[in-house]
Order: sequence, then structure tokens, then C-alpha cells
Amino acid sequence: MKKELRIGMIGYQFMGKAHSHAYRDLPFYFDLEFQPVLKVISGRNDHAVKEAAERMGFEEYVTDWKKLIERTDIDIVDIVTPNHTHAEIAIAAAKAGKHIITEKPLALTLEEAKEMHEAVKENKVKHLICHNYRFAPAVQFAKKLIVEGRLGRLYHFRANYLQDFIMDPNFPLIWRLKKEISGSGALGDIGAHSIDLSRFLVGEIKEVVGMTETFIKERPSGEMAGGLKATADQSSLGEVTVDDAVAFISRFENGVLGTFEATRFAAGNKNKNKFEINGEKGSIRWDMEDMNRLDVYFRDDEAGLQGFRTINCTEEEHPYAGAFWPAGHIIGYEHTFINLFHAFLQGLDKEETAYPDFEDGVRNQAVLAAVEKSAETKQWIEIKV
Ligand SMILES: NC(=O)c1ccc[n+]([C@@H]2O[C@H](COP(=O)([O-])OP(=O)(O)OC[C@H]3O[C@@H](n4cnc5c(N)ncnc54)[C@H](O)[C@@H]3O)[C@@H](O)[C@H]2O)c1
Repeated sequence: MKKELRIGMIGYQFMGKAHSHAYRDLPFYFDLEFQPVLKVISGRNDHAVKEAAERMGFEEYVTDWKKLIERTDIDIVDIVTPNHTHAEIAIAAAKAGKHIITEKPLALTLEEAKEMHEAVKENKVKHLICHNYRFAPAVQFAKKLIVEGRLGRLYHFRANYLQDFIMDPNFPLIWRLKKEISGSGALGDIGAHSIDLSRFLVGEIKEVVGMTETFIKERPSGEMAGGLKATADQSSLGEVTVDDAVAFISRFENGVLGTFEATRFAAGNKNKNKFEINGEKGSIRWDMEDMNRLDVYFRDDEAGLQGFRTINCTEEEHPYAGAFWPAGHIIGYEHTFINLFHAFLQGLDKEETAYPDFEDGVRNQAVLAAVEKSAETKQWIEIKV
């Protein structure tokens, strides 16, 4: 009999779907020592959470997350609710001795993020923050090339994370556009992923200077309705209190120069999460919208044959790719979560963490806080954790 890992999930929309799917698919692709069990799901609306439990395969549902955390038959609490709830739920779960998976950004503020980190350390529970893009095989392969020294000394990290789903001024004032619920706008929602990729691939950021803009200042009220869709109520307007777009530059501790842009106003770009890294021996670049491919350029290629070439990262040599299909049979967004959870669950009984944890969440939050402060003060800000 495999050891059961009983999941209690709080929230059930976009990320609820991505996470539930990953638990269900994990044993299908990986030979595991454990069996994830979708035990209980929590939501505030009885009818909606019942329907979600049936659709996603949870055994039971509750309408109060505190009841879920009190239960003795839950091993892992998975938080897929908006950002303002992460700290309270995670701290309560840590005190109850549960391992924790939470979505990004870790919290609303750096202070809150640190409290969460303290709570998991004090209560000796394992913790994961869902920076899933690290777990695309092409990104893992990029990391391997860097570690092997194939790019030599690194000079530049350049990232754009571009979306366009809120460009319509009639798109409603969803939770992602309210500071008290989301913490920040494009910065924390998508810029946080680019920051994580930079920390994973290049190293720690030392200082930043940046600017933010809110192009549409008022919107009709409304709510998220699955994925990045929303329903609007055109009868009342409210104020947008977060950034629509952010741009910042950074210096890394190892001397690399960073350039970051995150916006939801880049028409035509749906989930354009891109980076390029330039080093003394060559360059690599990746784009989530073509996530199986990694472009590489090596300066020591034969003269006349030099140029970017594209590797389809679906072969046994590419981390995680061998778990899925034969070479060339590509994988998608959902597989980044399967790989991420595999790394976390495999590490539950080990000291080392081969996945982003709350310490990464805190360091990421420190960069978010510094960018916000820089935009406010128009100054370079040093990252302080
Ligand atoms: N890793 C990624 O790529 C990624 C992508 C999208 C969202 N996220 C993160 O996942 C989290 C959830 O985002 P989402 O897109 O799934 O949101 P969503 O709006 O689609 O779903 C949020 C869920 O939380 C519930 N909820 C809302 N307020 C609550 C409250 N006060 N108490 C209890 N439940 C509440 C809602 O009913 C819903 O089930 C956020 O932290 C977000 O930043 C991460």
C-alpha cells in the first residue's frame, strides 16, 4: 500500500482547477511512493463548492476553511484563494501541523510574508510556493546549461511578462485590481513569476529602480469567472488601486544587469512570459507561449554556421520531459504544475528543497516591495529581506 497524502484545498477556480488536475495526473506519469488523495475542498458558496468537489474529484466539501484545517485527516493544505487570504490560512495551517502549498505572491506585504515563513519554520512543516514556470522542461534545461557553464559569465537577464486581458475599459474591477486584496497589480501577479525565474536562473537581486502606471483608473464592479474571464456589473464604478503595468531595471549580486517589464496592456500577448539571458559564451531565450522550445546561441559554433537554434525540449535529456511522451510529443501549461508538485511531494521526507519554498516567497516579496517603493520615491532601492 502506498502512503496516502490527503489534500485539503481552499478555493476552486483557476488555480483550483490547475492544482486538482495535477494531483490527479501525478501517479499517471510518475512512479510515486505515495498516493495523493483529494480529500476535502473548501469554498464559501455551498452550491458552487459542491459542484466543484464533484467536478474535480474531491471526496468531501466544507464551507469554512477553518473546519478543513481542524481536521486530522488532512496532510497538506493547498491555498488557491486571492492573495489577501494566504497569510491567515497558511499560519493557521502551520499551527495545525499541516504541510502547505500556496499560490504566489506569498502575501500582501513583506511583513506578512516573513510571518508566514516564521510560522512554517516554527511548526516544522514543509512549504511550497507555486512558481510553476521553473518546472517547464525547457526552463529546467536552461538552468542546467547555466550551471554547466555553457554560457560562461552571465551579463544580462531580460524578461517581459505580457498579457492583455484587462485592456477593455469595461473589464470589471476584479480582485486582481484592488490593492487590499491583491497587494499589487501586474507587478505581483505576473512580474513575480519573472522575478522568480531570474532568481532561479541567475541569482539574488541586489537593487532595483522602477516605474508603474495605472492606465484605466475606474472600472465597473464585477468578479472573476474562471481562468482570466470575469463578469461585470456596469451599474457602478470603482477605483483601480494597483498598477496596470510596471517596468524596472535591477543589478544582481553577481553583477548581472536585469531588465523587467510586466503589463496587462500589451495587445495580442496572452501569456507572453519570456526571458533572454546573455553570457560570455552565448545566449538562451524562452517564451511560455512556445514553452517546449529553448533557443540557444553558442559563440564557439563554427563561423558561418552561427545563429540561434531551437531545441525541442522533449527528449530524455531534458529534465522531466522523459516522464511524459516520446520526443516531439509536446506538453503544456498543466504539466508545469505536475512537475512542481512532484518535486514537492518527493521532498516531504527530505531536508533539501528542490522547489521554491516560503523563503523564495519572502525574497520575491522583498523585490516586489522594493519596486513599489522605487516607483513611489523615484529612487534606487536596495533589496532588504
Ligand atoms: N501560478 C500561477 O501561474 C497562477 C496563475 C493564476 C493565479 N495564481 C494565484 O492563485 C491564487 C488564486 O488565483 P485564481 O486565479 O485561482 O483566482 P480565482 O478568482 O479564479 O479563484 C479564487 C478562489 O478563491 C475563492 N475565494 C475568494 N475570496 C475568498 C475568501 N475571502 N475566502 C475564501 N475563499 C475565497 C473564490 O471563491 C475562488 O474559488 C492567487 O494568489 C493568484 O495570484 C497563480
